[in-house]
Amino acid sequence: MYSEKVMDHFRNPRNIGEIPDADGVGTVGNPVCGDLMTMYIKVEDATLKDVKFKTFGCGAAVATSSMITELAKGKTIEEALKITRSDVADSLGGLPPIKMHCSNLAADALHAAINDYLKKREAEK
Ligand code: FES
Repeated sequence: MYSEKVMDHFRNPRNIGEIPDADGVGTVGNPVCGDLMTMYIKVEDATLKDVKFKTFGCGAAVATSSMITELAKGKTIEEALKITRSDVADSLGGLPPIKMHCSNLAADALHAAINDYLKKREAEK
């Protein structure tokens, strides 16, 4: 049912954990299943230097968050905001249709963390 890549990221999630002094934090819940995900970002020169996540979600949610941290690291804020849930699913070699909603969490949480960072920066001006 799952691709090799999904299983790999599920079994060995990359970048799991918190960034205590994160520049932006975003938490989203999945209305379909009630699962939760938090993304933490560290920004330097408008680039995502570090991205970590914590999730209370299913295997697909773990795999998609792990994948998105890899896609987002090293990208500029602008590029990272353009990462979509389908980019994540494609990079994982596809997700079963019934699990597509799980990839929303990863993309939405990343975008929420970036927006949190942008808001804080705006407030400091
Ligand atoms: Fe909840 Fe996948 S079933 S995120």
